[in-house]
Amino acid sequence: MEVLKKANMNLADKIYIFDTTLRDGEQTPGVALTVDEKIQIAQKLNNLGVDKIEVGFPASSKGEIESAKKIKSMDLDSTLVGLSRSLTNDIDAVLDSGLDYVHTFIGTSPLHRDFKLKMSKQQVIDTAVSAVEYAKDHGLTVEFSAEDATRTEHDFLLEIFSGVVDAGADFLDVPDTVGVLTPVFTRELITFIKDNFKTPVSVHFHNDFGLATANTLTAIECGANQAHVTINGLGERTGNCSLEELVVTLKVAYGIDLGLDTTRLYSLSNLVGRLTGVKMPVNKPIVGDNAFAHESGIHVHGILNNSSTYEPMSPEMVGHSRRIVLGKHTGANALKSKLKEYHIDLNDDQFCKVFDDIKALGDSGKCVTDDDLIAIAITELSSARETPIVLKGLGLSSGSGVSPTATVRLEIDGEEKETASTGVGPVDAALNAIRFLIKDTMDIELEEYNLEAITGGTDALAEVFVISSDSHGNKSTGRSTNQDIVMASILAVLDSINKLLLIQRAQ
Ligand code: KIV
Ligand code: ZN
Repeated sequence: MEVLKKANMNLADKIYIFDTTLRDGEQTPGVALTVDEKIQIAQKLNNLGVDKIEVGFPASSKGEIESAKKIKSMDLDSTLVGLSRSLTNDIDAVLDSGLDYVHTFIGTSPLHRDFKLKMSKQQVIDTAVSAVEYAKDHGLTVEFSAEDATRTEHDFLLEIFSGVVDAGADFLDVPDTVGVLTPVFTRELITFIKDNFKTPVSVHFHNDFGLATANTLTAIECGANQAHVTINGLGERTGNCSLEELVVTLKVAYGIDLGLDTTRLYSLSNLVGRLTGVKMPVNKPIVGDNAFAHESGIHVHGILNNSSTYEPMSPEMVGHSRRIVLGKHTGANALKSKLKEYHIDLNDDQFCKVFDDIKALGDSGKCVTDDDLIAIAITELSSARETPIVLKGLGLSSGSGVSPTATVRLEIDGEEKETASTGVGPVDAALNAIRFLIKDTMDIELEEYNLEAITGGTDALAEVFVISSDSHGNKSTGRSTNQDIVMASILAVLDSINKLLLIQRAQ
């Protein structure tokens, strides 16, 4: 694809990926990772090729120190980082964990100074500078974050950044702590900071307005040297900039390959989803179930000819896979390709019947799985079939003050059987009788029953469409049209039962 023109961008020579899944990501409400889980994720982040992994906040618990130590002992290629407030005790905890890189922060906005820290501007600067000096004196690489930087007065931001730079800070981080930036404000702020400092600039953007990835890309366009990201965009509240969205957009739209092994993204996203219990919505970019799924006939037709028609990149690039989904929007091409995938050959009539059944299933609000397709196709293939169960007779009686009763006579594999049952209505009574008669052959559940009058008047034709399932989880559709609603219902149910029997016998 034609990549974005970089002429008007002020790209840094090297853009670092700083992953904070194990720290900010773990601050996702309801998420707590065990030491072992942190180790698993750290290993995979390392294999993916991220530059830095923020392993946790060592001062916050013994478990955090233990996991930091264990991850350190894994001797990974990624640089390991520990978070600390601008306090010597917190920095000591980072040192105790054996880490060489501290990410230290203090709130800088008026809100944080006045309501959280209750400190003057000078006290905030002094605290930050002392922390950076202390960390540098202990041999650490220091990244300084001005928490809530995006709601901090520009001149105060300059003042505190100048102070920590003089104290030896190696990276200046700009957190959009409550996610209020937009791309235009990001451009203004990052350009302003880059114009004033030679020290590498990092960004840590939250996603409260759904703009974290767009803002991070803008910061990179303006020369940001590093992006804080998390797998699946996890993090406080609505999360942080998502690693997979940022890295793939840079690669595909900007032509900037950061050297990460993007084929690992989908499995890492799933691992993090499983371990944190935070499942991705189906429409999550890059890693969601629908990221490479297609249903509409027009799109599937395009995809089958050339996948680029409706995909910005290949699923293989991110370790995902393409899915052709069947449903009410399915076109003939999609169905043909699915049948080919399962080596099912149908003649034209059979194909039309299967096509109609898939559409009807989709119209009834059902998601049509591949298993549904196979079941429908198998029964259709056997449609010049013997019908194991045939209706031989039906008698109904109903009136006032008595239960509706149905007498049903069936031929089951050549043997005739008859019974009478009651029910809440004549259809229910007949179904109870059928269930009783076939009980030695199968158990069925009626999952869906749709009745439609397809012509007008008292002699209207009734069309009944049903979905039945058996105790093995097989499903099948049944359909019948008759002037008598009860007869249409019974024939539709028997149609679906016969199909279920054929599926069972084919298994
Ligand atoms: O969002 C934030 O401000 C943070 C800081 C600790 C950098 O996570
Ligand atoms: Zn954060």
